[in-house]
Amino acid sequence: MTTSAILLVGGRGTRLLPLTQHTPKPMLEVAGVPFTEHQIRKAAEAGISEIVLATSYKADLFEPYFGSGEKFGIKIKYAFETTALGTGGGIKNAAASLGACDQVVIFNGDVLSGHDLGKQIEFHKSSNADVTLYLTQVIDARAYGCVEVDNDKRVKSFLEKMDNPVSNLINAGCYIFNPDVISSIPVDQVVSVERQTFPDLISSGAKVFGYIDNSYWLDIGTPAALVKASADLVTGKIKSTATPNHLGECLVSNTAQLDPTALIERGSVISPEVVVEAGSKISGSIIGSGAKIASNCVIVDSIIAPNTQITAGMLVFSNYLGF
Ligand code: GTP
Repeated sequence: MTTSAILLVGGRGTRLLPLTQHTPKPMLEVAGVPFTEHQIRKAAEAGISEIVLATSYKADLFEPYFGSGEKFGIKIKYAFETTALGTGGGIKNAAASLGACDQVVIFNGDVLSGHDLGKQIEFHKSSNADVTLYLTQVIDARAYGCVEVDNDKRVKSFLEKMDNPVSNLINAGCYIFNPDVISSIPVDQVVSVERQTFPDLISSGAKVFGYIDNSYWLDIGTPAALVKASADLVTGKIKSTATPNHLGECLVSNTAQLDPTALIERGSVISPEVVVEAGSKISGSIIGSGAKIASNCVIVDSIIAPNTQITAGMLVFSNYLGF
């Protein structure tokens, strides 16, 4: 039984503007590497041997970094949409590059999760499902695809973003499709799996199951979430083998120059060639390569773009500078 994967990385990432003006969301650095690398490593560790990146916005930036995938222990292919086809259209377009397989794992390119992908695949096989959705519980489901399941974990309804959610279980952005489900998606058309494919499958009686896992889950689609994801990975709150090895609770490049009186804390990332001058404090933040933080600055829960100069004494709280 072989499992392949598709990683949806073609969105414009508008909630992350201006960070996504020149870099697609999945290529933004989170804990020292492009976010996508965390997902690709997770797929490889679950035994997936082939993954297609479904690209559209800023598509050229993926292949120079990920190449054939050899470095990551997985075969990587690239599918391109000239005009973004939505999540369903992107899956259909990418599936044409996949070899024969028994099931396909689809990852949203902006979810950091601690869920056990191997167990989700086992659950999919043992329940003989057509589709298995990874579901997680949230306090407020209004911004997500809200899902109702019965006692056997069969999905009864899927309602995308609504004011009065019918449950607190949401689509956590990793689903498994049998290949014939992908065959039913129309070619070269804009299709949303959330608004069309899932509701249509449920109403036609297809076997759509929910795999519920309440371990770490975060949608990194906003700047505040992106910086939190990075700090959580660096401090080990969520584990990823893509996070570079480091000592202590921060990730500091050995080419960075830190004044001995500078304080770096709470999962901060200090990238190569960064300079931090005397008395400055960096907490829970990402400092891009070549940035210079002058003396006596305080930078908390923020992202500083590469090569940005922060002048002496600046206080930066939950802000995103230099993009
Ligand atoms: P926002 O504009 O901030 O909502 O971000 P987004 O464009 O990434 O949209 P959203 O978060 O809803 O997308 C979920 C996932 O699907 C992300 O990983 C996107 O990259 C991906 N995605 C969204 N639309 C498309 C598309 O048209 N084609 C492809 N290939 N991927 C898409």
